[in-house]
Amino acid sequence: LWTPAKIIEDQIARVRDQVGDRHVLLGLSGGVDSSVVAALLHRAIGDQLTCVFVDNGLLRKDEGVQVMETFAKHMGVKVIRVDAEALFLDKLKGVADPEAKRKAIGNTFIEVFDDEASKIEGVDFLAQGTIYPDVIESAASKTGKAHVIKSHHNVGGLPETMKLKLVEPLRELFKDEVRRLGVELGLPYDMVYRHPFPGPGLGVRILGEVKKEYADILREADAIFIEELHNADWYHKTSQAFAVFLPVKSVGVVGDGRRYEWVIALRAVETIDFMTARWAHLPYELLEKVSNRIINEIAGVSRVTYDVSSKPPATIEWE
Ligand code: XMP
Repeated sequence: LWTPAKIIEDQIARVRDQVGDRHVLLGLSGGVDSSVVAALLHRAIGDQLTCVFVDNGLLRKDEGVQVMETFAKHMGVKVIRVDAEALFLDKLKGVADPEAKRKAIGNTFIEVFDDEASKIEGVDFLAQGTIYPDVIESAASKTGKAHVIKSHHNVGGLPETMKLKLVEPLRELFKDEVRRLGVELGLPYDMVYRHPFPGPGLGVRILGEVKKEYADILREADAIFIEELHNADWYHKTSQAFAVFLPVKSVGVVGDGRRYEWVIALRAVETIDFMTARWAHLPYELLEKVSNRIINEIAGVSRVTYDVSSKPPATIEWE
């Protein structure tokens, strides 16, 4: 019977068999897939697992702290946190094109990860949160059948020089199965059922050149939006929701004065497969509350807009 408990039991046996007494490295992103792999491998091989969590400065508010609390503090997983914000921002300086940004972020990630990995002795295996749809997608793109619109750097971006054998315990599973495994493994519900977050993170939600000032504003705006979606019980009725930073200035009033500040766009969609999506018909009261909070609480924002574009022709992300 394919219950989550049975899959976990089988995978633990397989991993132990494959790895023996050797060491495994895992890039932990905080996303569902790598989180489930971390929890699973920790159960299977304990201290033979070392995770590397790269903070690229493009994460959501408090994400780094949450990852460290969940894995290092509560579960006792060995996690190395690398603070690479300055390096990523430096590599993104002057880069405005979306695909060029993805490449810069992907390459920098590999550089940082590779660097960290080389400091750890005796590692023979690299674990990855590859799931079945990733396998299909990358097989399709190899034969040229897939219309690859964007480079999803979290699949197949393995440093060639590392010569590590792969451990991919989720290769045969669909997302909903991975989530059920996560719950069974004791991961927090909110982490397991969180909306997907792209590998390049806020890097593709800040239009054009990425700057720390923009990322800091966006993090705050996004956190307000997500908090209010939860409060209104709308978070799980949407498939993905987030704020986007528009590097455009707009006029507003505060008290007797006038201000000239940035614009935030809100995006929320409903979708089954992320190939097509409908913009979420959020209640006006909810949008009003989010808008008021963002403009009142964040000094650098003077205007909030709601994205009413569906996919196709628009994409879910703005870049
Ligand atoms: P689009 O914008 O293409 O997004 O409609 C479809 C889904 O893919 C996610 N996405 C990415 N995920 N790296 C990722 O890991 C990327 O570069 C990337 N671009 C888009 C997006 O968040 C949505 O869930």
